[in-house]
Amino acid sequence: MLAKSAGSIKNAEMLAYLEICMEKYIINGGKPLYGNVSVSGAKNAALAIVSAAVLVDGTCVIENIPKIRDVAVHLNILRRLGASVKLINDKTVEINCSGIRTTNALFNDLTRKTRASYYFVGSLLGRFGAAHVSLSGGCNFGGVRPIDQHIKGFEQLGAKVDVRSGIFHAECPDGLIGSSVFFDISSVGATMNIMLAAVKAKGMTYLENAAKEPHIVDLANFLNTMGADIKGAGTDIIKIRGVSKLRSGFYSIIPDQIEAGTYMAAVSACGGEIIINDVITKHLDCISAKLAEMGVEVEDLGDAVRVRRTGELSRTNITILPYPGYPTDMNPQTAVLLCLANGTSVMTETVWPSRFKYMDELKRMGAIVQVDGSSAVIEGVKALSGAPVEACDLRAGSALVIAGMAATGVTEISGIEHIERGYENLIPKLRSLGADIVTVNVADNDEASLGASV
Ligand code: EPU
Repeated sequence: MLAKSAGSIKNAEMLAYLEICMEKYIINGGKPLYGNVSVSGAKNAALAIVSAAVLVDGTCVIENIPKIRDVAVHLNILRRLGASVKLINDKTVEINCSGIRTTNALFNDLTRKTRASYYFVGSLLGRFGAAHVSLSGGCNFGGVRPIDQHIKGFEQLGAKVDVRSGIFHAECPDGLIGSSVFFDISSVGATMNIMLAAVKAKGMTYLENAAKEPHIVDLANFLNTMGADIKGAGTDIIKIRGVSKLRSGFYSIIPDQIEAGTYMAAVSACGGEIIINDVITKHLDCISAKLAEMGVEVEDLGDAVRVRRTGELSRTNITILPYPGYPTDMNPQTAVLLCLANGTSVMTETVWPSRFKYMDELKRMGAIVQVDGSSAVIEGVKALSGAPVEACDLRAGSALVIAGMAATGVTEISGIEHIERGYENLIPKLRSLGADIVTVNVADNDEASLGASV
């Protein structure tokens, strides 16, 4: 009976996945954007916070949860581990991990769907002294996504780590001991993962050369609300005094910096004027400053930004860096703007040096781009033209949506399952701003391609 119902859940998940693989976005470009849009909770904070709930022997009520596939996958991993997960309303989830009795998260069908499933190593190791998690998936930027800094950090806390047969094993039967961890590079994932384990280690842990992204601070704030003792999150050195127990509590996730940045890029590409609500404007400073350089007006309204573009976009150079530098997760969306700017721009990527695979799709739309190692030289054109293109990852996908909205003619985007992993209601939100986009089943595509605006 049990096996049968587990089987039908799997089948339902598989059918839903196949259904979305059968869908495309059809965009009639050339419409300026006007109106208001609200930003959802931050994906990359939510994924860490939901995984961190494992550490709490009680109930976490988490508000402002984004309704996206990646988060749904993490909630399903929690359920399979034995947690109780209830959606209280549209934006709030109640998680109780008291019932977890296993350290095995060997759910390859789920863990390979998100990169961040490796956070269950940190949280299971922190709570139980052992973790066995099948390896994660996530966006493929054209190279291996290493985990050496995670391994080094766990080992530094006294864990024995072994990665074999597609499983990340970490064990420390006598308990983790606080230590100094000096990361070779600034890694969001490694900083969060080691923080998750170190909150329950004996004594002090110092994370040096830590990542400083807003989601790092959000995870630390969540854990502190639950009784952890973390200081310095958002700086290079995070100090963690281990505690024996975390307690129940309530937390609200910060707004998504990259979702907000995506709407900023969309109106900059299409022209018009929009207000983006529910943001932390400080997190957007790096994006606002660059857009201003390109001739876009960005006004800080407190917990909203007004973004207006009427004239030409000016060329500029951009170096992608860890926070507070220009974010890598805005690389593709911003490249679309450079494709439309008045002159030649250079974008240099230092976080994911091979993150330019998507340029081939923009070239199909008339972009003039030369990729040379970790730099792209982009010669602005007067207009992009609609074409059939394919999203190869989440942000590349949202960039193609922006390119399609700014282009002349019709753009068809396949591979939209990548986009729907990480943006809540992207298409309804863009439609509410005046974009002409529909989602169609591939079978109905011929009709939609004839230019029907639904
Ligand atoms: N790196 C190593 N060793 C490691 C870990 C990372 O060399 O052990 C390198 C990576 O190869 C990369 C750099 O360090 O060159 C940064 O990687 P990081 O660990 O910071 O990335 P991540 O944690 O795997 C998160 C986000 C990504 C975002 C990056 C950088 C999540 C779930 N993912 O990935 O978000 O691009 O940080 O900010 O938080 C997205 O949202 O679209 C996305 C891809």
